[in-house]
Amino acid sequence: MFPVWKGVFRRKRVGRIEADRPCRSEEIPSHVALIMDGNGRWARKRALPRAAGHHAGMLAMRDVIRAADDWGIKVLTLYSFSTENWKRPHHEINYLWQLVDEFFQLDIGELVARNVHIRILGEPSQLPQATQVTIARALESTKTCSGLVVQFALNYGSRWEIVKAVQHIASRIQKNEIAVAEIDEDMVSNAMDTAGLPDPDLLIRTAGDQRISNFLLWQIAYSEFVFVDVMWPEFTRKHFYSAIQAFVARERRFGGLK
Ligand code: FPP
Repeated sequence: MFPVWKGVFRRKRVGRIEADRPCRSEEIPSHVALIMDGNGRWARKRALPRAAGHHAGMLAMRDVIRAADDWGIKVLTLYSFSTENWKRPHHEINYLWQLVDEFFQLDIGELVARNVHIRILGEPSQLPQATQVTIARALESTKTCSGLVVQFALNYGSRWEIVKAVQHIASRIQKNEIAVAEIDEDMVSNAMDTAGLPDPDLLIRTAGDQRISNFLLWQIAYSEFVFVDVMWPEFTRKHFYSAIQAFVARERRFGGLK
């Protein structure tokens, strides 16, 4: 059944600013990570169920993926469901999985047409069977795509990712494949779910809170952070554009001197 609240808002029309890149192509961050926060508060402010906030969040996410592709960003990582989100009520969790199914079923054609390569961070094996099947199909459909990489962090927790990496490296030592002295940063990076991709240049969090919430702790060592006050469902290309401009204005020294 089509819920009533699905008709209560519409995406704003794309303005001129949105058709342009936010900066010169060489300044575009290669990898942007997003903590999409504030769906619940957005809904509460409108006296809508939290599910309506997540649905509106999915629409915002869709447009951000399009913008990232239009602007030539190489990797987009979206914090979609954390290992801590299991503490939420069952009906909310179930709705989120339904939304993941809906998104991959409706958008897969466009993602393939845009040459988007999908990756999953986290543990999909604990998700509902139907969602696992939908995700496996999406991964299969985009496995040869060579454009924008979109990583969905689903049932993801950074500390658990680090624990898994440590277990993997320790088991290689146990099998005498490597020596302890051979462990270096590259080996650890390659044991993460994000293996083979550059670390995020820019991390954006919406909805006003200024914390990392167990997201990409290893990978964000030198990322620039931009915290914005708007709730995730209100986050448009315009906000994305401004966050990238704030990033471009920063001086990144990576611990060195200017
Ligand atoms: C945080 O807002 C958001 C989430 C836990 C879910 C993010 C999900 C989406 C953006 C929807 C679509 C995702 C996919 C992959 C199809 P919150 O609920 O914690 O908001 P609150 O802090 O205001 O309560």
